[in-house]
Amino acid sequence: MPRPLPLTLALAAAAAAALPLAGAQTIAQTTASAPAPAPAAFSLAPLPYAPEALEPVIDAETMRIHHGKHHQAYVDNLNKAVAADPALAGQTLEQLVARAGTLPAAIRNNAGGHWNHTFFWETMAPTDKVGAMSMELAEAIEAQFGSLDKFQAAFRAAGTARFGSGWVWLIVGADGKLAITSTPNQDNPLMDVAEVKGTPILGNDVWEHAYYLKWQNRRADYLDGWWKVVDWSKVSARYAAATNGG
Ligand SMILES: [Fe+2]
Repeated sequence: MPRPLPLTLALAAAAAAALPLAGAQTIAQTTASAPAPAPAAFSLAPLPYAPEALEPVIDAETMRIHHGKHHQAYVDNLNKAVAADPALAGQTLEQLVARAGTLPAAIRNNAGGHWNHTFFWETMAPTDKVGAMSMELAEAIEAQFGSLDKFQAAFRAAGTARFGSGWVWLIVGADGKLAITSTPNQDNPLMDVAEVKGTPILGNDVWEHAYYLKWQNRRADYLDGWWKVVDWSKVSARYAAATNGG
């Protein structure tokens, strides 16, 4: 006489057996009566760490306002602008960014703001959790800029030279080489309008809202201090992806 299945296995088997039927019902209901689904709205992901986790480089209040107010506003305004133009329904953030120059300013600014800030939060980590730079990226930085110190000095120079608000980036260009570039407002190097195009692997926000509470007008000091919270393992992974595995 066969032994009965343990309860958990029996439940799993029953659930698996029920899946095709449940799926069929869902499809039937969708095709029979459900209206076309509304386009998915863009949404703000939570910060990948606590607001105070990047102190003392970036203070908790700046993080809360920057993420919860500024970034949220880019997301909300992007959703409003997309909802107002049916031709944009279903476009991904990357698609909107890539053709930003052909779209209204509200899309360019807010799609850029959403993409840039998402990238920015993911670039950073608490100082005791930042990972190491890969050998491939370290060699590429040395080959292109001479040394890590020289690269960081050039990055600071590009960040301080950006008049008004904008971003400073480390990109992989179409030639596979690293380059530093800067963009105004919420533009980025993925946009069709960028003067220097490429795949960003590192980016810093040099809008005053990113640093003013802690650093006031000392943008150069903010740029220097920021290296303590750059997660080089993340940047290295992006470099590997941008160069097809290095
Ligand atoms: Fe910002």
